[in-house]
Amino acid sequence: MKWRELIKERSSIRSYKDKKVDEKLLEQVRQYMKELSPLIPEQKTEILLLGKEAGPRLEGIVGYMGNAFFAPNYILLLGEDSEEGYIHAGYLAAQLELKLTELKLNTCFLSINEAKAVKTALNISSPLTVTTCISFGHGNPEKDSNRIDIKSRSDVRMEKIKGHIAPKIAMVELVSQSVFGQSCDFAEDAMDPNWEKAFYASSLAPAALNRQTYRFLIEDNMLYLLDREVKHITREDRYLNDGIVMFYFHTVLTAHFHKPDSWTVGTVEKKPEWKVPEEYFVVGTYRLF
Ligand SMILES: Cc1cc2nc3c(=O)[nH]c(=O)nc-3n(C[C@H](O)[C@H](O)[C@H](O)COP(=O)(O)O)c2cc1C
Repeated sequence: MKWRELIKERSSIRSYKDKKVDEKLLEQVRQYMKELSPLIPEQKTEILLLGKEAGPRLEGIVGYMGNAFFAPNYILLLGEDSEEGYIHAGYLAAQLELKLTELKLNTCFLSINEAKAVKTALNISSPLTVTTCISFGHGNPEKDSNRIDIKSRSDVRMEKIKGHIAPKIAMVELVSQSVFGQSCDFAEDAMDPNWEKAFYASSLAPAALNRQTYRFLIEDNMLYLLDREVKHITREDRYLNDGIVMFYFHTVLTAHFHKPDSWTVGTVEKKPEWKVPEEYFVVGTYRLF
């Protein structure tokens, strides 16, 4: 898949046409559900593809203010109710959302407000918990707008974008080098140009309430993903955000070469020389080379 292009193309769409998604496309989605790259292979996961009938049942128990959008289809992920479980779910769901984007379908993540109620409403008897949900279908058209992509001071582009655009975190804020808040000079010789592409793709990731609270810190050949608790974002959504951004980074970085290992999930001690604000903790570690 052309991950970078799909990442740029993707945006959350919250209104769908009352039109069935072609069975051939749904078959491709079902097939892809079996081909996802796992982040933590030992994590148990179930993925369900649901039809229109799920919409009214999900109303009130998923989505901001209980809005489930009455979409033609939903993908529901079930997994383990743990930090690793949600990060893993985010990693898988990111792949599914981009596959749907490739199939020219529109999508939106839905926060799970009442996981047990979702299982009851949909008659799901699995021992796993509902970790995340994506609505999808043919979206209603939105007005086109311009997006300014600021990659660096010397690389500012104006692109015509279909539909709305959600503001995204700036690269200088997202990525630090050696010391928290110290911006990273991607023009430096030591920098692999693929890193910049991978960080830029990460900056475009979807995030609950559009709060991209995570930060990257590069130290030599190691990359750390940091995150923090903020008001209004549940622990589950925050870990999903982390899993999504982990996938975006890894898939774009490895677009042109094979790297068997991805992120190692789990916290490590913050080094004092990083000068990381107290509220941040390490969520995952990545060996860059
Ligand atoms: C874990 C997660 C949960 C989300 N929950 C909802 C939701 O319940 N309702 C909704 O309308 N959008 C939801 N979103 C979509 C975000 O609001 C959206 O990604 C963000 O505003 C950025 O916009 P974009 O996806 O168009 O780039 C969620 C996204 C993520 C990653």
